[in-house]
Amino acid sequence: MQIAIDGPASAGKSTIAKIVANKLNYVYIDTGAMYRAATLVALQHNVSLVDESGIVALIKQFPVTFKIEDQKQLVLVNDQDVSDQIRLPEITNNVSRVSALPQVRQLLVKQQQHLASQHSIVMDGRDIGTVVLPQADVKIFMVASVTERAQRRYQENTQRGIHTPLETLEDEISLRDYKDSHRKASPLKKATDALEIDTTGLNIEQVSQKVLKLIYNKTNI
Ligand code: CDP
Ligand code: CDP
Repeated sequence: MQIAIDGPASAGKSTIAKIVANKLNYVYIDTGAMYRAATLVALQHNVSLVDESGIVALIKQFPVTFKIEDQKQLVLVNDQDVSDQIRLPEITNNVSRVSALPQVRQLLVKQQQHLASQHSIVMDGRDIGTVVLPQADVKIFMVASVTERAQRRYQENTQRGIHTPLETLEDEISLRDYKDSHRKASPLKKATDALEIDTTGLNIEQVSQKVLKLIYNKTNI
């Protein structure tokens, strides 16, 4: 069983995908974490973010793995936990450059498809329903107003001790959405057979219930 969740930054994809995967006992795969980890490794090794083959070589040398510990999903590179590091503003503000590189996408999509072939999964990202899993059993396109998405990210940052002003976050999210939707290589786009959920004004519990209902309606599970 394959459940694809796509949408713009901070729409709530990963929060809801984790809850749904947990409820259904499926594996959750955070594809954004893979592009973030590639960005982190490139910056750590002083590889230019336009050096496509250099970044591809680094991804092969330091592949991302996921590990569950104390019910939390950790993102590992070279056996080191980078879960917090990949969410730092320096990574967030550079990741769209790395994710626009076609060879980087080709390699990571292959890894994502391999992961999906091994388990029943919930996978979130930008191109899951369109490119990675075009045959997914359920495709969801999750959106919310940019103001609400910036407010959500602001609260999350505050909990992490990051203090970026709300207006800056709104600008950064809008810019990342623009870059992700306008790149040539598999841009952020709603699959024609995806179901759109507008989560503006909805809390996590309400959205998870909506998504689970859609999954139960669309499948025989
Ligand atoms: O959590 P947030 O929405 O901030 O972003 P993310 O899901 O962690 O993804 C980070 C970045 O990776 C996105 O802005 C895209 O540039 C890229 N990405 C992508 O291109 N394709 C995917 N399937 C997932 C993420
Ligand atoms: O994965 P994506 O970037 O789409 O979003 P996320 O990281 O799951 O959610 C961004 C923030 O919004 C998190 O702090 C969630 O707890 C919060 N959130 C929310 O307040 N209400 C929702 N309905 C969904 C997420």
